[in-house]
Amino acid sequence: MNVTHTDAPITEIDVDAVVVGLHCDGRLSPSATAVDEAAGGLMTRLFERNEITGKAGEVTPLLAVGGVRAAQVVVVGLGAAGDFDNGVAFRAAAAAARRLAAKERQQVAFYVDDDWSARQSESGICGAMVGCVGQDLYRAEKNRHPIGEILWAGADDATTTSGRIIGESVNLTRRWVNEPPEKMYPESFAERVVELAGTCQFDEVVVWDEKRLEEERCGALLAVGRGSVRPSRLVMIRHMGGAQDDPLLALVGKGVTFDSGGLSIKPSDGMKTMKLDMSGAATVLGAMHAISRLKIPINVIGLMGLVENLLSGDSYKLGDVLTARNGKTIEVLNTDAEGRLVLADVLCVAVDQGADKIIDLATLTGACVVALGEDVAGLMTNDQDWCDVVSSAAADCGERAWQLPMFAEYSQQIKSPVADIKNIGEGRWGGAITAAKFLEEFVDGKPWTHIDIAGPAFAEKDKPHCDGGGTGAFVRTLVEVARGWDG
Ligand code: BES
Ligand code: MN
Ligand code: ZN
Repeated sequence: MNVTHTDAPITEIDVDAVVVGLHCDGRLSPSATAVDEAAGGLMTRLFERNEITGKAGEVTPLLAVGGVRAAQVVVVGLGAAGDFDNGVAFRAAAAAARRLAAKERQQVAFYVDDDWSARQSESGICGAMVGCVGQDLYRAEKNRHPIGEILWAGADDATTTSGRIIGESVNLTRRWVNEPPEKMYPESFAERVVELAGTCQFDEVVVWDEKRLEEERCGALLAVGRGSVRPSRLVMIRHMGGAQDDPLLALVGKGVTFDSGGLSIKPSDGMKTMKLDMSGAATVLGAMHAISRLKIPINVIGLMGLVENLLSGDSYKLGDVLTARNGKTIEVLNTDAEGRLVLADVLCVAVDQGADKIIDLATLTGACVVALGEDVAGLMTNDQDWCDVVSSAAADCGERAWQLPMFAEYSQQIKSPVADIKNIGEGRWGGAITAAKFLEEFVDGKPWTHIDIAGPAFAEKDKPHCDGGGTGAFVRTLVEVARGWDG
């Protein structure tokens, strides 16, 4: 998809569609006014009759509008003017683009940003790119047809470029999540990262195979992967945009390319979307892709722990005691609590690589979805200031996250009579937090924020602004954190 900007008046541009925005107070923006005047008061009339309301995300295509050269005018609702932010901009543009992408269209011009800030336009451009990509990778007849060229009125080159880069990165994460597990497994994920490195100038990509993981004492990660014929991998991407001794940010992702639950096998219904379980790793990848292509002048390392959690004669077992990279021993009481075992070793690697602060992303617990619903990520931390940074970055992007407590009492639940800790809590209550308490054992006291994306990483159904499947949630937040990073 191409993204450019245009200075042509809205009535004169000859494209497949022009998109205008409308707040629910009915006040017409300059572009909407131009259409209204050219079409003899059409917009005003439709608003007065309640045909268009300006409600956030409402999309109304108007065909054959008099006085306008474009084949159609799409009116997209922007909600209450006082609630408008980057998230509304993203979702409104995405909803309009998604509707238009139902057919092949060469050029669509967005005239929504008469009074948007550059950052709001960037969010809108990103949304437009996300809205027109679906999960129909393997369908002959596509549901979505990415728009050939997105034109954005009013934006400058820097904004169209950054909006496009971030949009491509979110779509990259979505595509990788949407790939079936027979295509996306630890080795193929790692190979694809190496391929990608050619096009986006990562400073370094390192892949650890099983032999290296053994040498590096990643016993917890290796145990999870042992039940699969597909060997495990750890991928490390380095972006050194800052000075050599600038502080290092680490992004860590859970990359379980398929989670059957292992011997603690999941019921079929709970397993059918478990290709999504590498979303944390795909999010880290998407963010690293954006950070390197935006040339953000900071030092970041992206770490992805890649395994397949299956059952076989060689699976790890209940009662096994594993030794993680930092020497802590772990009693396994449920092989379906595998994500924390993978992350345990990868977090240790992040610490050993010299990370000053850490963020991990993981589709870690169903309990987090029970607590917060499908659209909200859980934040858990050992350092309130660092969590506040992540939380406000998410709020700035309009991505939903909510903090859960990390009271010391929860740690009691992961004590084990036979090892240093065990991999599940007592019973199922507070499961998102006991999982985070487990992770905390492996960050060596470094400022760390855990983002449980079990809900928002994957949409089981279509949404007005996005087709079902991988959502690319939190790529934008990570880019925002990187932009604001000063150690
Ligand atoms: N990958 C799952 C969590 C998950 C569930 C993600 C639903 C997305 C949607 C994770 O590995 C898991 O199975 N967690 C268990 C933990 C339990 C055994 C302590 C869970 O949530 O049931
Ligand atoms: Mn599991
Ligand atoms: Zn899992």
